[in-house]
Amino acid sequence: MPKIVTLPGDGIGPEILEPAVGVLQRLVDGVEVEEHVFGGASIDAHGTALTDEVLDACKGADAVLLAAVGGPKWDTTDPNAPRPEQGLLGLRKGLGLFANLRPVRPVPALLDASPLRRDRIEGTDLLVVRELTGGIYFGEKTRTADSATDVCTYSREEVTRIAEVAFGAARRKVTSVDKANVLETSRLWREVVGEVAQGKDVPLEHLLVDNAAMQLVANPSDFDVILTENMFGDILSDEAAMITGSIGMLPSASLGQEGDPGLFEPVHGSAPDIAGQGIANPLAMFLSTALLLRHGLGREDEARALESAVDKALDQGLRTRDLGGTASTAEAADAVLAAL
Ligand code: IPM
Ligand code: MG
Repeated sequence: MPKIVTLPGDGIGPEILEPAVGVLQRLVDGVEVEEHVFGGASIDAHGTALTDEVLDACKGADAVLLAAVGGPKWDTTDPNAPRPEQGLLGLRKGLGLFANLRPVRPVPALLDASPLRRDRIEGTDLLVVRELTGGIYFGEKTRTADSATDVCTYSREEVTRIAEVAFGAARRKVTSVDKANVLETSRLWREVVGEVAQGKDVPLEHLLVDNAAMQLVANPSDFDVILTENMFGDILSDEAAMITGSIGMLPSASLGQEGDPGLFEPVHGSAPDIAGQGIANPLAMFLSTALLLRHGLGREDEARALESAVDKALDQGLRTRDLGGTASTAEAADAVLAAL
């Protein structure tokens, strides 16, 4: 039986994870679910956002389902204080999750929920492939009272393996996003991606990140796969989320070596402002569960069934507050379960 480690984390995390586990149990007979504290909750309990025990449990699972981490309680500029986000970064590094996949596909029923005009976003179906264990996130950091540095490093090997993922996922083209007019890491990135592209039958184009940010709202349907480094991918995927109407809709999969456990989580955060009220949108959590079914357990049929159930519930009028409606988390979960 597959074993899933769940990490509810902080804020709205526990309340959106609970119905997702219900869906998982309904779709996968006998699935074993093991929950662990993580993020701010783990700082409170153990003084660190990710304990060795939890990392080991994740390594031993078939897949990890994570809700969200962070909150004002643990926000600090003190460089020595533990931060919830360190748990997420530690998990990504510890599990070797170098490939972050963030599909952006507006649901037909939500075309008018996006702040962008319907005619701009109609037909959008893109995938952000974000490098997740390198770049400025993981380079050396220094700090004195008056200055600070964050080093951005990429190796040929790191760029090659993420570019391979992007070409493997592309149907029409790969758009590689960098800042090669300024950054040395970007010039290496561009060179290596160009080499990987040779011998593939998918065309490659290069965009500078500032231009990509503009094109993403001007012509989102023009993109297929956006391949980019860690920090640019972080920023562009939040921007792309608004094409779907709400960041509460966007799932993600973080994958490492073939056969190793992947991590599945919504792109949104822990939304401390609405935590504990039972009004959070659980749909990105459900769609992340669908990605877990597809990429983590190889259950394509169940993944599609869950994605269709989300579409159908929205079609039938389901709207949480972030989508301009009044449905609670529990009502949203019931609507999806009914459609399943
Ligand atoms: C994300 C988040 C994380 C990131 C934070 C919470 C560390 O914004 O997954 O996009 O920057 O990668
Ligand atoms: Mg982010």
